[in-house]
Amino acid sequence: MIDLSFKYRDAISYLKKEAPFTPDAAIVLGSGLGNFADHTKKIKSISTLEIPAYPSASVEGHKGLIHFATVQDKKIIIFQGRIHFYEGYNLSDCVLPVLLAKKIGCDKIIFTNAAGGVNKKFLPGDLMLVESFNSINIKKELTELIGISSLEVKNNFLNCPSSRMNKIFKETADEIGIILHSGSYWYTKGPSYETPAEIQMIKKFEGDAVGMSTVHEAVFASSLSMEIAIVSCITNMASGISEQRLSHAEVTETANTSSEKFALLLKTAISRL
Ligand code: HPA
Repeated sequence: MIDLSFKYRDAISYLKKEAPFTPDAAIVLGSGLGNFADHTKKIKSISTLEIPAYPSASVEGHKGLIHFATVQDKKIIIFQGRIHFYEGYNLSDCVLPVLLAKKIGCDKIIFTNAAGGVNKKFLPGDLMLVESFNSINIKKELTELIGISSLEVKNNFLNCPSSRMNKIFKETADEIGIILHSGSYWYTKGPSYETPAEIQMIKKFEGDAVGMSTVHEAVFASSLSMEIAIVSCITNMASGISEQRLSHAEVTETANTSSEKFALLLKTAISRL
């Protein structure tokens, strides 16, 4: 098990020094969903390049910015730019935003991501609240990340994602008239999109959406006793579910198209956290 607090001690002390406040919640933005930050009142923005030893995101649509911002009376920290396993990083590097949020005193975190729709009821542009996720592809890596869990940590996983936060998301979506599906997110390592045969397997095991992020971040956050919620933007139908060929451009374009409703849902839910 790697001591991340030691490995990233300079990044932690840098952010502690720069943070203008203790955030009520952290938000991690997924591919193409980065412009959520423009819907908030930004107080201070930091380039991740300024943070000692911060891994650089190489994926189009991930900017490498950390914003301290407000949404109504809530103070938030926004990570615009994710670190992905498929870029060649260790899972332990990918969870750095979670570690930093925790170290500056934040105990709630909302993950967002772009995902492929496996459930045929979904359409590109739809939003899905993650009720559960499948981490079968990274069980070994997760154990290396969090170690053999204590009873207390195991109990945290019983409420991951948080039923309280999910209730807020569902009620908010109903009230503001946004369709928010519920479902299970299946993690794949990438780097390439899945094959149609892989998607058929995921479908058989009742995965509703598939993506290459979030699960390790959520498990790590939960192991640190943070309350978590996950919202996926279905940017495309998964491989073989529709005729269309998958591309990263399609993913970011669809995410951009959904960005208004996504921002409205997120902002309203955050104000109620
Ligand atoms: N598969 C994996 N990751 C994704 C997809 C997909 O279809 N769409 C967006 N991220």
